[in-house]
Amino acid sequence: MFSDFPLSVPVNHLADNEVHLWLVDIRDVTSPFISTQWLHLLTDEEQSRMQQFRKLEKQRQFVVARVALRLILNALLRKPSARDIVFALSETNKPFLQHNTQNIQFNLSHSGNVILIAVTRSRQCGVDIEVVNTGRDVVKLAEYYFHKEEYAALRHSEQSPDVMLFYKLWTLKEAFVKADGRGMAIPGDGYYFQKTDSATPQLMITPAVNANQNWLFRHFFYCNEYSAALAVEKTTNHPVEVMVNRLVFPDTDG
Ligand SMILES: CC(C)(COP(=O)(O)OP(=O)(O)OC[C@H]1O[C@@H](n2cnc3c(N)ncnc32)[C@H](O)[C@@H]1OP(=O)(O)O)[C@@H](O)C(=O)NCCC(=O)NCCS
Repeated sequence: MFSDFPLSVPVNHLADNEVHLWLVDIRDVTSPFISTQWLHLLTDEEQSRMQQFRKLEKQRQFVVARVALRLILNALLRKPSARDIVFALSETNKPFLQHNTQNIQFNLSHSGNVILIAVTRSRQCGVDIEVVNTGRDVVKLAEYYFHKEEYAALRHSEQSPDVMLFYKLWTLKEAFVKADGRGMAIPGDGYYFQKTDSATPQLMITPAVNANQNWLFRHFFYCNEYSAALAVEKTTNHPVEVMVNRLVFPDTDG
């Protein structure tokens, strides 16, 4: 559905009905990734977390994601430095903003070279992005993780097994459980998606799962290499406007 990703630096206004979806392609970052300026934006705890990654590309992914998140949020929060933003974790490890007087919610996902960040006001959101791996045994995974309706859709698709449909469903499901916040605690067969060909896939929740039913979903493939999904809580009847941008990093001297 999103074929165009206009470039933008972080923006300083977010209306209640808007969802800002930021795509960060690490390949756009040309400067040395662990520059002193960027590391100064991370807390000591984040810096030590980064050092725990043994692979350089995982370190790079972590730093770029955290710096992007801090810069995007600070354009709205306007603290003296993006480093001043304080994150906390829910009981199920969903990060949220402490001292959140503006009621800003966010969620982040990373895979390969791409990071996806959603930001909303006064409504929960969740995102997921995954590199499409055509060599994966998607049937086995779907049998284990998906609802039987989704498994059947995958098996009966014209192109069976339909790897792209698998990734579409997988990322939609992850975006939902991340928006809800409970992650893996929600069983994958306790809910399923219908109308996955439409612009707005529909979530069906079985009686086994106690969850909010009011969500808006979006899905897109990025460069045919990545599957990406967004879940946003519908809090009123006002239409939700999803704005997608590819992040341009501003100067980071603060
Ligand atoms: C965290 C989790 C929700 C997503 O993990 P993932 O896909 O491996 O990783 P992503 O890159 O998409 O997301 C990681 C980010 O999500 C955020 N996050 C962590 N726990 C979260 C939670 N409970 N809810 C929402 N967001 C969470 C964090 O910002 C984290 O980034 P960080 O580690 O750099 O701080 C995962 O642990 C999980 O529970 N996945 C469900 C697995 C599953 O059963 N899937 C079946 C789908 S059918």
